[in-house]
Amino acid sequence: MAQLWGGRFTGEINQLAWDFNASITFDKRLLHEDVKGSKAHVSMLAANGIISETEKDSIIKGLDEILAEVEDGKLEITTEYEDVHSFIESNLIKKIGDAGKKMHTGRSRNDQVALDMRLYTREQVLSTAEMLYNMLDVLNSKMEENTETYMPGFTHLQKAQPLTLAHHLGAYFEMFKRDALRMQDIYERMNYCPLGAGALAGTTYPLDRNMTAELLGFYGPTANSMDSVSDRDYLLEYLSALSIIMMHLSRFSEEVIIWNSNEYRFVEIDDAYSTGSSIMPQKKNPDIAELVRGKTGRVYGDLMGLLTTMKGIPLAYNKDMQEDKEAAFDAMDNTQHCLVLFTDMMRTMKFNKDNMEKSAMRGFTNATDAADYLVNKGMPFRDAHGVIGRLVLYCIDKNCAIDDLKINELKEFSELFAEDIYNAISLKTCVEKRLTLGAPSPEMMKKELLSNKEFMEDYKKNFLNK
Ligand code: ARG
Repeated sequence: MAQLWGGRFTGEINQLAWDFNASITFDKRLLHEDVKGSKAHVSMLAANGIISETEKDSIIKGLDEILAEVEDGKLEITTEYEDVHSFIESNLIKKIGDAGKKMHTGRSRNDQVALDMRLYTREQVLSTAEMLYNMLDVLNSKMEENTETYMPGFTHLQKAQPLTLAHHLGAYFEMFKRDALRMQDIYERMNYCPLGAGALAGTTYPLDRNMTAELLGFYGPTANSMDSVSDRDYLLEYLSALSIIMMHLSRFSEEVIIWNSNEYRFVEIDDAYSTGSSIMPQKKNPDIAELVRGKTGRVYGDLMGLLTTMKGIPLAYNKDMQEDKEAAFDAMDNTQHCLVLFTDMMRTMKFNKDNMEKSAMRGFTNATDAADYLVNKGMPFRDAHGVIGRLVLYCIDKNCAIDDLKINELKEFSELFAEDIYNAISLKTCVEKRLTLGAPSPEMMKKELLSNKEFMEDYKKNFLNK
């Protein structure tokens, strides 16, 4: 047990308590961030005459060596150390001696860990944004190919009105677009540096917090030092945004599962993203989509766990906060896996356009349009609704569609019916006439596609490539 403290203690810590207290098994993930933060810290210490240039150089060299040795497998991160911070400091002192003991001047593990976690999360926010961008890209190209692929639109999982696959996918484009904007929003708010807050009350050394913030690519330093060490809002915001992404992915998964069922056959999932059964040879299961749906609960759990951990903590740092890491890492890992897998599954999925179109022709998806036809011929909408309702009942009895009826049969329900009804309620007309802003007509979809493209370009330019 390589403890960072000693003077104040006469006895040894109990082994179980040591293990319970330690975070090395999971915070070793922060190795790079910790080294990066320490390098910036000692550069600032030297620039302000708090340590010498030679000491700074020796610390930086030592830190780089530690990093390289861990990467080469020459140095192992073991449970002998409490956390990644003590692992690095102990090894630095072993390596360079007394200069190593100066690295922690004017710093606490409280502002150190607050910085490490922020640096790590900032990267994750960016990679989540990249993944969302890729999803938008796949959706947009599928949309471009399918502005005239007809399918039924559903409410209550009952066929409602006809629309196109482009329009359906366009709804998911909007969801993931909001998710992408949330990443940008979180980034803007979180990009401030807590280093230099000390344990909770700053320090008496003349630290230049602007310098470390700048060296580490932050917009500037955080304000109040107590808040700086105990703020985990940015993690909660990120986990909330991840939960919403998972909710979107879960809804999309549910649709893929339904579309993939024998009853629908709207899609064929690529073999690379489906599995078979060990007993039933005919099966091709949508396991990936089901697991994405399943993992949603777990990411919500991570968010609820961290919210609950934070809710009773008095200012400033308390050890409870160490619990932020496993929850956050779990949520990031799982959401990102799900995003990448789902995007690839979508990219490779085949849409059975014929089945979609056939399905749109059955189930009276043109009933609203038939009522609108009568309205255009002068009948009040409520009466037209009643006429078409009776017509639908008649068709159900005959097991046919409205368009299958002969004109004289139609005329028995209303004298207003004429030959032009067939064209008025054809699938093509039903979709093409939906010209309101945001509606599925190919004409409107072309506009939507253009603005999607514009959004993606701006997002790339102003955020991803900034
Ligand atoms: N492992 C700790 C954490 O993750 C590091 C900070 C420790 N600070 C302290 N005062 N014990 O939160």
